[in-house]
Amino acid sequence: MQMLDIIIKKRNGYELTKEEISFLVKGYTNGSIPDYQMSAFLMAVYFQGMNDKEATTLALEMEHSGDVLDLSRIKGFKVDKHSTGGVGDKTSIVLAPLVASLGIEFAKMSGRGLGHTGGTLDKLESIPGYNIVLSPEEFINQVLNIHIALIGQSGNLTPADKKMYALRDVTGTVDSIPLIAASIMSKKLAAGADGICLDVKVGSGAFMKTIEDARHLANLMVQIGTSCGRKMTAILTNMDEPLGLAVGNALEVKEAIDTLNGKGPSDLRELCLFIGSYLVMDAGLADNVDSARKLLEEQIENKMALRKLAELVDAQGGNSDYIYHPELFEEAEEIIPVTSATCGYIKRIDSYSVGRASMLLGAGREKLTDEIDPIVGIVLNKKVGDYVNAGDVLGYVHTNGKNTEEAIKMFSDSFEYSTEKLDVKLILDVIR
Ligand code: URA
Repeated sequence: MQMLDIIIKKRNGYELTKEEISFLVKGYTNGSIPDYQMSAFLMAVYFQGMNDKEATTLALEMEHSGDVLDLSRIKGFKVDKHSTGGVGDKTSIVLAPLVASLGIEFAKMSGRGLGHTGGTLDKLESIPGYNIVLSPEEFINQVLNIHIALIGQSGNLTPADKKMYALRDVTGTVDSIPLIAASIMSKKLAAGADGICLDVKVGSGAFMKTIEDARHLANLMVQIGTSCGRKMTAILTNMDEPLGLAVGNALEVKEAIDTLNGKGPSDLRELCLFIGSYLVMDAGLADNVDSARKLLEEQIENKMALRKLAELVDAQGGNSDYIYHPELFEEAEEIIPVTSATCGYIKRIDSYSVGRASMLLGAGREKLTDEIDPIVGIVLNKKVGDYVNAGDVLGYVHTNGKNTEEAIKMFSDSFEYSTEKLDVKLILDVIR
């Protein structure tokens, strides 16, 4: 079998066989297929697509390209959650301790931010001492002890995805439905959870710009997971404005802590309760969404969820004083209010631009090797649907002096106005 023949077959729009997909995943992982051939193949997939059967085969081949975690020592129902990537998305930092505080096993491997989107690992690392590296043994033991672990992708899990994702990132082939589905599902399957909830973001700050594409991606991922015996839920959520108010690592952790204290922004709280309800039902603790939600609300009210976050931080070497006293987080040198030049209802806050502005300040990275500044970012003061007068504060830029003017302009330009109030819908669909 030759990679060249596979590239040409896909370029001409034909369906690939299991053997061909297996050949290219194995060959790329072991280095016998070079980047330039894989790049051409990925671009062929980008334009010609893959049918659901090919995408499923690709996901399974990528899952088995390295180690697969065996979580069977953890007897309870194990849950996991994954977002397709958004701006201000600190859901995992709220959701994981919230669900785990009910005794449900939350064993999660997260990623770093890239481009305009943030990553849970970078956010967690803004808590002094937090260690994102545990061996598979330590990861399992921690879940056995405290029902929760939040770490980086460990060891040799899905090496094919690591290489392919890095290549896609620099070849303009990230936003392809079969490639995203295979990338996400290979990692989720290899990480071993029984119940998986996918938060599929839709809108300007997301890879999926339309509801139709998001639904297609969600259906495909649910189908792949279900065919492997996992309980799958995909929730389509709006990314036409950042989630919550804070964008930037420590700023987002502080907002997650606020939310676990019952005080966070309503959209973030709603999303966490919504996703959490499905995981609680999957774990068998409730038989309908309302009773699942009640259980979770109680865990916020009685502070058990907040305590679980502190317990997680302690277990992973972090300083849990920061969870009970978020005022300990360092502040940026300057906090600059950005005001509106016009009046009207806010119609859209372009998440992509807000994410890019925060990145320019140093909160994100262009390349994986870039250093990030954990304390800079942006805190919105207005959301879609709010009315503003000229001179009202739209948000605050937290800066240590890097690209401040450019970031302020980008943030300010991300607002679109209308003469009528728009209703925003956060949850667009649920696919089970
Ligand atoms: N997140 C992933 O893990 N993979 C993709 O391809 C896109 C988003």
